Amino acid sequence: MLAAQRFFVLLLCPVDNPHNLLMQNSQLSPDSLPQHIAIIMDGNGRWAKAQGKPRVFGHKNGVAAVRKTISTAAKLGIKAVTLFAFSSENWRRPEEEVGVLMELFISVLSTEVKKLHKNNLRLRIIGDKTRFSQRLQSKIADAEAMTAGNTGMVINIAANYGGKWDITEAMKVVGQQIQDGQLQASDVTEELIAQHLTMADLPDVDLLIRTSGECRISNFMLWQLAYAELYFTPVYWPEFGEEHLLDAVTWFVNRERRFGCTGEQIKALMNNS
Ligand code: FPP
Repeated sequence: MLAAQRFFVLLLCPVDNPHNLLMQNSQLSPDSLPQHIAIIMDGNGRWAKAQGKPRVFGHKNGVAAVRKTISTAAKLGIKAVTLFAFSSENWRRPEEEVGVLMELFISVLSTEVKKLHKNNLRLRIIGDKTRFSQRLQSKIADAEAMTAGNTGMVINIAANYGGKWDITEAMKVVGQQIQDGQLQASDVTEELIAQHLTMADLPDVDLLIRTSGECRISNFMLWQLAYAELYFTPVYWPEFGEEHLLDAVTWFVNRERRFGCTGEQIKALMNNS
């Protein structure tokens, strides 16, 4: 912990409160924060409807919330953020809405990737990309290539992704290795399966956030969420801002460490990690 961070924590944590004594001893540090945050961005349609606008208005405004989330998480020093942008099941939505979402992905990749690169952030799209248009696939490949060498926070956008698909794809590789005689069935372990999942290079998810009041995992990262803390907020995704992410992280730190840390203390870690 940097001296400046320790100073902030002590400043915000006077010693006459028993919680604060615990805090002081436990030394809230960047290590207390979740390393990997996953978010199910939900409620775009309901948010738009509440304002008498079409659903796609909600998706367009959802992009601003994505920007805020990425910038706040990067300032906090989070290692990876995974955003559920389009599930395998979302193809069932009206054709027009799917079309707008695809165009939105293309335009976001075109306009944002340089900014991500400039900030040393790495962008990856996870999911079955083969169903996307050639144009989108090529934008994705360019964005991933441009940011591949960056060492800062990893941003995974889950698109045409499903947790069951992820595990199935991993098992196809393992099954092929058994068929080829490289492995015995008895060699299959959790670690071996995990090596073939998307995001195998990242720690499992520590904190899952779902907006809009729904309390489901919806076939998101089923394997990687095994031990995650689950945080559900009624806020609709387009309204999700810096304060909401800090609330979720504060909740996480208090659940994990069982002491009364405040949002201010989490804020004090921003830009210092
Ligand atoms: C869920 O809200 C949201 C989506 C299926 C799409 C998420 C897309 C964005 C936030 C915009 C683009 C993002 C990136 C990363 C480029 P919903 O439509 O299910 O809302 P509802 O439950 O209220 O109907």
